[in-house]
Amino acid sequence: MKGLVLAGGTATRLFPLTIVTNKHLLPIYDRPMIYYPLETLAGMGIREVMVIVGGKSVGDIVELLGDGRHFGLELTYRYQRGALGIAHAIGLARDFIGDDAFCVVLGDNILRGEPLEPLASQFEGGGWGAGTLLYRVPDPERFGVAELDADGRVLGFEEKPKVPKSDLIPIGVYFLRPDAFDVIAHLAPSGRGEFEITDVLNHYIPGKRLFAPVYEGHWADAGTVPSLLRAAELAEADDKAGRLERPVEWPRDPRD
Ligand code: G1P
Repeated sequence: MKGLVLAGGTATRLFPLTIVTNKHLLPIYDRPMIYYPLETLAGMGIREVMVIVGGKSVGDIVELLGDGRHFGLELTYRYQRGALGIAHAIGLARDFIGDDAFCVVLGDNILRGEPLEPLASQFEGGGWGAGTLLYRVPDPERFGVAELDADGRVLGFEEKPKVPKSDLIPIGVYFLRPDAFDVIAHLAPSGRGEFEITDVLNHYIPGKRLFAPVYEGHWADAGTVPSLLRAAELAEADDKAGRLERPVEWPRDPRD
């Protein structure tokens, strides 16, 4: 499997913190935000990762991460012009992905507690068309929201609905195969002018081709001030419990 980290967008929900810098460079406890999704992919045994960058301070992201060797990763970069959404950003990686299955992690998503490698293997070995992880939240209207049938099977996802049909959301982890690029190429932009990942996931629901287990660990996105704080508290709690891994010797200068 290959990996993608999406680190574009304008992060207006974090203004003024992100007026002059990129959200993914902000600190979460003891490390920059973008370390977490990279560690998530590295923890799945993935080595080849493309970071899709956009918005402010893109050069600083490259300077921070370098070629990725300090994470045990081989990093390449691609620039996303404009904030056209998650599905658009994924579409930029078509040549990089080639014929491989891949896992996308949003650059502001923090996952702790349940390892993802078994979930990635279940997706890859199970003949699924696409996958995401579900998580129960108190404020589903802020996210994509799942509608479920009586057996708990996903009937569809709605992006940021005014009246959510459940409190289960797809978090920012997506398992895809190269045919997703054809799905993305035929998407229309949503009302907010973005190419939505939930529309890609919805494509795989007929025929039961969507893998969507509930994530049993802890999750936070860090796209708003309260969630940025919660993400830091999650990391701090892990640190105090001796669970916050530092899988690599962090360089003082990634160019070394
Ligand atoms: C995005 C996705 C949404 C998902 C969320 C998880 O939302 O569009 O479906 O639930 O990430 O972090 P956004 O980044 O626009 O808040």
